[in-house]
Amino acid sequence: MGKVGLGLAVGCAVASCAIAAVMVGRRVRSRRRWWGVVRVFDEFEEAASTPVGRLRQVVDAMAVEMHAGLASEGGSKLKMLLTFVDNLPDGSENGIYYALHVGGTNFRLLRIQLGGQRAILEYDVERELIPQHLMTSTSEELFDFIALSLKEFVERKGNNLQIPQVRGTNLGLTFSFPVKQMSVSSGTLIKWTKGFAIEDMIGKDIVECLQRALSRRGLDMTVTALVNDSVGTLALGHFYDKDTVAAVVIGTGTNACYLERADAVIKCQGLLTTSGGMVINMEWGNFWSSHLPRTSYDIDLDAESQNPNDQGFEKMISGMYLGDIVRRVILRMSLESDVFGPVSSKLLARFVLSTPSMAAMHEDYSPNLSEIHDVPLKVRKLVVKICDVVTRRAARLAAAGIVGILKKIGRDGTGGITSGRIKSGKSGKMRRTVVAMDGGLYMSYTMFREYLNEAVAEILGEEIAPYVILKVMEDGSGIGAAMLAASNSAQSVDTVQVL
Ligand code: BGC
Repeated sequence: MGKVGLGLAVGCAVASCAIAAVMVGRRVRSRRRWWGVVRVFDEFEEAASTPVGRLRQVVDAMAVEMHAGLASEGGSKLKMLLTFVDNLPDGSENGIYYALHVGGTNFRLLRIQLGGQRAILEYDVERELIPQHLMTSTSEELFDFIALSLKEFVERKGNNLQIPQVRGTNLGLTFSFPVKQMSVSSGTLIKWTKGFAIEDMIGKDIVECLQRALSRRGLDMTVTALVNDSVGTLALGHFYDKDTVAAVVIGTGTNACYLERADAVIKCQGLLTTSGGMVINMEWGNFWSSHLPRTSYDIDLDAESQNPNDQGFEKMISGMYLGDIVRRVILRMSLESDVFGPVSSKLLARFVLSTPSMAAMHEDYSPNLSEIHDVPLKVRKLVVKICDVVTRRAARLAAAGIVGILKKIGRDGTGGITSGRIKSGKSGKMRRTVVAMDGGLYMSYTMFREYLNEAVAEILGEEIAPYVILKVMEDGSGIGAAMLAASNSAQSVDTVQVL
């Protein structure tokens, strides 16, 4: 080889070394970036972990907070609200009843015909989206919209009955927000949750607002039951199965209620009820404990929410927030690396990733994960893993909450709780115990449901778990309200006395 040839060969070798070095450098950098992303994931997974030991701490904390919330007004972040529901439907109810359910994203209208002997002869339900602007407008606008929808519904479903013929018809109202009840058919709004913000409504009697709107529309119907959606769910659960002692809703928001002994409601000395018990609306969305596995993403989500420092448990569990936690983790990763490509700028918008979309990605069993677009397969797999961590944590925390309720009422097979102290050891005989379940997240997100059911059994242990049954009560929140409207029109409305 001559000089020129050698020179060329050396030149080529240097050039290809340089190219190789650039390639290797790029690969190393890209591998480093990928490892950066994986590190973000690992840290998140660790911070969000829910080993059974931690869940048991949450169980105890829930039971203790329940006790504190019953002991004094403001004694806990758990409001433990009186519902004045002391008798749950038993299946003997008869007649045609209407119910309205004002809650998260949907608004539901129901009509049921009860035939006694635990029979629902006819059942009609229609769902409508509450227009976004009404969620932050005025109480009059919101209730006018509701009353008009009800009027149209009654006209459509009333078997050609003319409006005057529904005169005096009893109506159940499910209102899925924290309400301070004065009786079973009246109560004032404490605060909004789930993105609603109608300032003039706070402190107002919800039933009065609805009754006025019904009169404006010429509808002569009487609200005989005002209930939280969890209470409606408990009512339907009890209608079918008298071992139902608690109900949980996990949808846009989350909450639970249960049947408590009247004498355990210490903050209400001398509470007398015909049954000796009362349903307590826990408003568990606001539960808080240092044992909850809170991550930096939860802290940011809370700080940027409409209600900072509020509804902490709800923000880790319910449908309004899960998608947004996933979005925040992906956003953090995309700041670490360009593996998410141009998608990342879209990730800046809050709530752009809804929980149903997250569930679709999580439960996508296609080989190339086709629910996720525009990123390589390994990135898609990582996104699925993020969804899994978020959902698993939510479901397991909700499971711990459920066992916490069972512990408070001595149905978890342990010593229960007295005077705010957790007793240890085993209690005597375990009784069949049913928890009624409703809410879109639990009903439609299979992985969530499975994780929750599994965790309840894991916390309780194999000896006790078979006694505890979680029963789905679809539309329970609304149907139960109609049933309570039925039972409360048959008997005197306020059988409950607070002395
Ligand atoms: C509300 C509860 C309601 C729950 C489920 C929460 O945001 O505070 O009253 O039961 O959502 O709808």
